[in-house]
Amino acid sequence: MASIALKRTGQKMPLVGFGLWKVNKDTCADTVYNAIKAGYRLFDGACDYGNEKEAGEGLRRAIADGLVKREDIFITSKLWNTSHKYEHAKAAAKYQLNLWGIDYFDLFLIHFPIALEYIDPSVKFPAEWWGLDGKIHPVKVPYSETWKAMEELVDEGLAKNIGMSNAQGSLILDVLSYARIEPAVLQVEIHPYLTQEPLIKLCKLLNIAVTGYSSFGPQSYVELGASKGAAGLLEHDTIKSIADKNGKTTAQVLLRWAIQRGIAVIPKSNNHERLVSNLAVTSFELPADEIATISGLNIGLRLNDPIDLDPSLGGLGIFA
Ligand SMILES: NC(=O)c1ccc[n+]([C@@H]2O[C@H](COP(=O)([O-])OP(=O)(O)OC[C@H]3O[C@@H](n4cnc5c(N)ncnc54)[C@H](OP(=O)(O)O)[C@@H]3O)[C@@H](O)[C@H]2O)c1
Repeated sequence: MASIALKRTGQKMPLVGFGLWKVNKDTCADTVYNAIKAGYRLFDGACDYGNEKEAGEGLRRAIADGLVKREDIFITSKLWNTSHKYEHAKAAAKYQLNLWGIDYFDLFLIHFPIALEYIDPSVKFPAEWWGLDGKIHPVKVPYSETWKAMEELVDEGLAKNIGMSNAQGSLILDVLSYARIEPAVLQVEIHPYLTQEPLIKLCKLLNIAVTGYSSFGPQSYVELGASKGAAGLLEHDTIKSIADKNGKTTAQVLLRWAIQRGIAVIPKSNNHERLVSNLAVTSFELPADEIATISGLNIGLRLNDPIDLDPSLGGLGIFA
């Protein structure tokens, strides 16, 4: 499995993993089990996805059946916005490890640089964006406070690597000014409509590995009614003609475009055939001119922007 060596630990993060957002709860355990059988070695979870318990069941079944050992699998999880306070952050990680039924995460990320009012898991889990009154409640918690808790998770052996998600250059540079343990990974939205070249270049300079999410662009947002009217990339003429030329599917071309630029990908599928084909992207190469043609589709379209949830709340404007 092609991988990226992470800074500090040198741990190898697979270039292609499986994304767990919107993986149905009732089929999640089987999906994870079958994904492991198909060769996936990285799973990208989060508190917010609401299926960590089921994903853990699939993982533990695969280990019990002798398909893999725990150390063969790279598990990523994320800290939700309502747990940014120091004491909540550490408790949340432990709560999530318990759901997975594992002793450590290979990578733990701060999901968004947005702190929201705390909601105890006994009251609502996952807490999601909205408080009990149906409104979003940003609170003031410095990122440095959350980062300190993340570092202590490493000290305690609960996370091997830590990182950031949905962060821009200025926040990354700020974290580097005080971090005792630097972020190893940045996970952000990347697809041909949002190519993020300057951010990727910065991460390369800083030796921070980049994982791109929503590699298929609008596809993931159609079911949420949030694809912003953008034409699908999987059906895009440019991607289609490159796929035909290379004898690949459009999905494979979109994934290959990312990994050939050194970006890890974590496609999600609830369909086994698609899940298998998404993994088969490490053994062919797209010519440089085709990579450039695909990058030329960039229109700066960000599909996952929290400000869209409530444009009146400035505290959500992390990409402004
Ligand atoms: N850090 C963050 O804030 C953040 C945000 C978003 C996502 N993520 C992570 O990134 C992962 C991937 O992103 P994503 O789930 O937004 O989107 P994605 O993987 O780009 O796209 C998923 C969509 O594409 C479809 N699909 C998958 N494989 C396909 C194929 N080969 N051919 C045609 N359609 C295909 C899926 O439908 P079917 O299921 O029906 O196949 C689903 O509708 C997430 O699962 C999550 O782990 C992180």
